[in-house]
Amino acid sequence: MLPLFVHDVDGKVPIESMPGCFRLSLDEMMTEVAGAISDGIRAIEIFPAIEDTLKTSLGEECYNQEGLVPRAIQRLKTRFPDLTVVTDVALDPYSSDRHYGVVKDGKILNDETVHILCKQAVCHARAGADIIAPSDMMDGRIGAIRAALDKEGFCDVLLLSYTAKYASGFYGPFREALCSAPKFGNKKTYQMDPANSREALREADLDEEEGADIMMVKPAMPYLDVLSKLRGRSTLPLAAYQVSGEYAMLKAASLRGWLDEKSVVMESLLSIRRAGADLIFTYFARQAARWLAESS
Ligand code: PBG
Repeated sequence: MLPLFVHDVDGKVPIESMPGCFRLSLDEMMTEVAGAISDGIRAIEIFPAIEDTLKTSLGEECYNQEGLVPRAIQRLKTRFPDLTVVTDVALDPYSSDRHYGVVKDGKILNDETVHILCKQAVCHARAGADIIAPSDMMDGRIGAIRAALDKEGFCDVLLLSYTAKYASGFYGPFREALCSAPKFGNKKTYQMDPANSREALREADLDEEEGADIMMVKPAMPYLDVLSKLRGRSTLPLAAYQVSGEYAMLKAASLRGWLDEKSVVMESLLSIRRAGADLIFTYFARQAARWLAESS
């Protein structure tokens, strides 16, 4: 599964802390996806970099049917109907406070945020998204989004829940890519404490009850124990996200000749698979698919 960064500007802008990754215009995205499909990739996730002028405290742009993400989905599904398109449901790219939720007096309002996320999910489904992936970690959002999608007739759209999303330093390069570092505070009130693994099991039980189709652990390598525990507990498909900081570490060391890129990338992906992931989100997806094809 290949994550892609898109923006509403012409061309392709390199992301400094993720060598080899870019913010893509929709035209460049089409070229990248055509290449990825020929490498053997069948699923992508879209992450938008939204212009500052469109950001508000309630993030209303996130459910604009003419917005960047719905346009990206439509173009992809028209040209590549068999491609699985996953979309991120969260407010951070749209929020003028750069948080996942609506902020009042320095606090995130859970229920108000969930209401907006439901509108965002329906907007993506209308544009043709196959899988909606809420990454916000608000309480009760899986059940609420499932109900909102069903009500609009999108019973076939799958929900991939970021079930165990840890408050991690490894998201740093991603926040540079999307300019989405929070303006104040941190995300620890709604992301999970890295010291806690039992909480992931509770979150997983809730997500299953609320109707998640796939559960995700993120980041991947520092949380393989959590992935493995979830594998023992749930029969749902599991995903793991090898995040931007994991990519940056392996890439930077490889570029300096300190590590052998192919062997460490394939070993890291294999370890994620071994721990129980059925799906892996990784910025190395195209390269890994090419290496796998060479070796088979
Ligand atoms: C939130 C989101 C984030 C990532 C995926 N979805 C950023 C965050 O939590 O700040 C991180 C992915 C990565 O680091 O590669 N919309």
